[in-house]
Amino acid sequence: MNTSSCIGISTMKPCCRILIGYRISSIFGVSHIRSNHKIVNNSSKLHSKSKLSCYNDAKCKVIGPKKGVIDLNRRAFFASGSNWGESKILGKNKLGVNKDSSRGILVIPHVASDFRNHSTSIDSHVNEKGFESIYIQGGLNVKPLVIENGNEVVKEDGSRVQVNGSGVNLDILKDLNENVETESEASNIEKEAWKLLRDAVVNYCGNPVGTVAANNPADKQPLNYDQVFIRDFVPSALAFLLNGEGDIVKNFLLHTLQLQSWEKTVDCYSPGQGLMPASFKVRTVPLDGGDGTLEEVLDPDFGESAIGRVAPVDSGLWWIILLRAYGKITGDYALQERVDVQTGIRLILNLCLTDGFDMFPSLLVTDGSCMIDRRMGIHGHPLEIQSLFYSALRCSREMLIVNDGTKNLVAAINNRLSALSFHVREYYWVDMKKINEIYRYKTEEYSADAINKFNIYPDQIPSWLVDWIPNEGGYLIGNLEPGHMDFRFFTLGNLWAIVSSLGTARQNEGILNLIEAKWDDLVAHMPLKICYPALEYEEWRIITGGDPKNTPWSYHNGGSWPTLLWQFTLACIKMGRPELAQKAVAMAEKRLSVDQWPEYYDTQSGRFIGKQSRLHQTWTIAGYLTSKMLLENPAKASLLFWEEDYELLENCVCALSKTGRKKCLRFAARSQICV
Ligand code: GLC
Repeated sequence: MNTSSCIGISTMKPCCRILIGYRISSIFGVSHIRSNHKIVNNSSKLHSKSKLSCYNDAKCKVIGPKKGVIDLNRRAFFASGSNWGESKILGKNKLGVNKDSSRGILVIPHVASDFRNHSTSIDSHVNEKGFESIYIQGGLNVKPLVIENGNEVVKEDGSRVQVNGSGVNLDILKDLNENVETESEASNIEKEAWKLLRDAVVNYCGNPVGTVAANNPADKQPLNYDQVFIRDFVPSALAFLLNGEGDIVKNFLLHTLQLQSWEKTVDCYSPGQGLMPASFKVRTVPLDGGDGTLEEVLDPDFGESAIGRVAPVDSGLWWIILLRAYGKITGDYALQERVDVQTGIRLILNLCLTDGFDMFPSLLVTDGSCMIDRRMGIHGHPLEIQSLFYSALRCSREMLIVNDGTKNLVAAINNRLSALSFHVREYYWVDMKKINEIYRYKTEEYSADAINKFNIYPDQIPSWLVDWIPNEGGYLIGNLEPGHMDFRFFTLGNLWAIVSSLGTARQNEGILNLIEAKWDDLVAHMPLKICYPALEYEEWRIITGGDPKNTPWSYHNGGSWPTLLWQFTLACIKMGRPELAQKAVAMAEKRLSVDQWPEYYDTQSGRFIGKQSRLHQTWTIAGYLTSKMLLENPAKASLLFWEEDYELLENCVCALSKTGRKKCLRFAARSQICV
């Protein structure tokens, strides 16, 4: 191992809590950073950071760790030169050395500056073994969005945006087609939604950084709903972006980026460096030193406090998706080009692309690692994660700056995209024809050419499906494991497969056709069911572990989630079916405000407000607003979805056909699913 070029410090913490703190008007917009980073010369580098504080005197101070250890062997990031899939993260747990837990704690002799962005500097270099190392230094510098009063927003470049009483950006509205101008006037419900969305905004040192998950003042037991969830913030972010307010999104992206690499432990075990938290909270705590001064700190939850200790696998994927959306809608591509942001993308991908024991190109995760964050029998290779993974890979391919340090990663992304789309299109897709094929499957086939590759026993086809599957259309199943197909319909995974073009054009159309054909089951009185059907009786008891929150047709077990409206709208616009989305939005509009914007609805037809549903749930509100704005402005919507990538389809990387020794199984696949 090449140890000579990199010296780092671990920020060992005395306890498992993770706090990043600022006093008022921290490092945002402040050019001079007063810091107690200790930066020693090249030969003995000590550059540490464990807590950022924001001071009332508008200065920013970086407080050093209680304990710092110089580790001469540390690398923040490794990737194999020949095949990026062989990348490794070195850390305390894996190699017995202390893992670097934050950006800015490695100092190396040849750090490149990035004056344009005043951002973290980075240098990457490939050593003689082909391993790539990334070295990081610096901080972040973001100018704040200032909301001065109800009618004007000052943007970071100093320009002012006029907003109307409901907070809708008038400049954006001016751009809209005159014919729809009257229609796009914010209705009373939209006005209420904008007010509630703005009330949910969380500030950190005076700058907006996210929105709380739910904001019902009457709620006596908010649990963690008073936190900013990464996944929940996405529709809020889109609503703000579509309304011409990018700064809150930029702040969110940069702050969560800082949380990403922090030391995180669950019972003294540290998950991967690139993991993004599920949520974070802004806390006010007494400043070290005890003079009574208070400071604001960011307190992330990587799953160590979450119910069930679930891993937030989707957070990093959503973060990448949102980063791309921010660039597309604002045109500010400088953010994604920043070296610290590029590193953030790479750390997330490193976690996702690291080799394991898995046989599939799909991502292997534990139960509850996404929107369904409780035990629901979705461990393994759930569709939602695969759709988000595919989208995040496509986003990354667009955003990563290609150089010697990233070319292997980009190649690995291309390979994975191609393998993943083939896998999902070929093996997750079911329609009438495919179910009939499965019904007649032979089993116990031992050979590379097996038709029933996963040894699915036809008895697994659930009785509900036999009658339910329409003649036209189809869907992607919820999960695929050896000997197991989860035939439940999961809405988010299917919608996001359309949006990202993970499915073929025919499949994507088929999914919408199925939703339309099964409207009474999947939409009924409130869009949209999180999954269909519900687990009942023994299945519910065994699979959910008798979860009283996930009883049949409630919450994650067949409940109806209005937040899914924006994803449905996006999918409909992409497929040229906006009227379908309009129908769903119109139905939701009748109830959401009256019912106080619930988190979810219960019963098979979605008629009751959910048993334990929060009210004033932010992503319900934001999902509704985003849907409205997307429908009003399909051109903007088109920035958020992907068309088929024909290059990927041609890309079969197994190279077996070229050697002639073995048959490429992809070409031997039962159906050659391409478009
Ligand atoms: C519930 C949902 C999860 C969401 C969280 C906050 O736990 O299952 O998807 O992020 O609430 O709203």
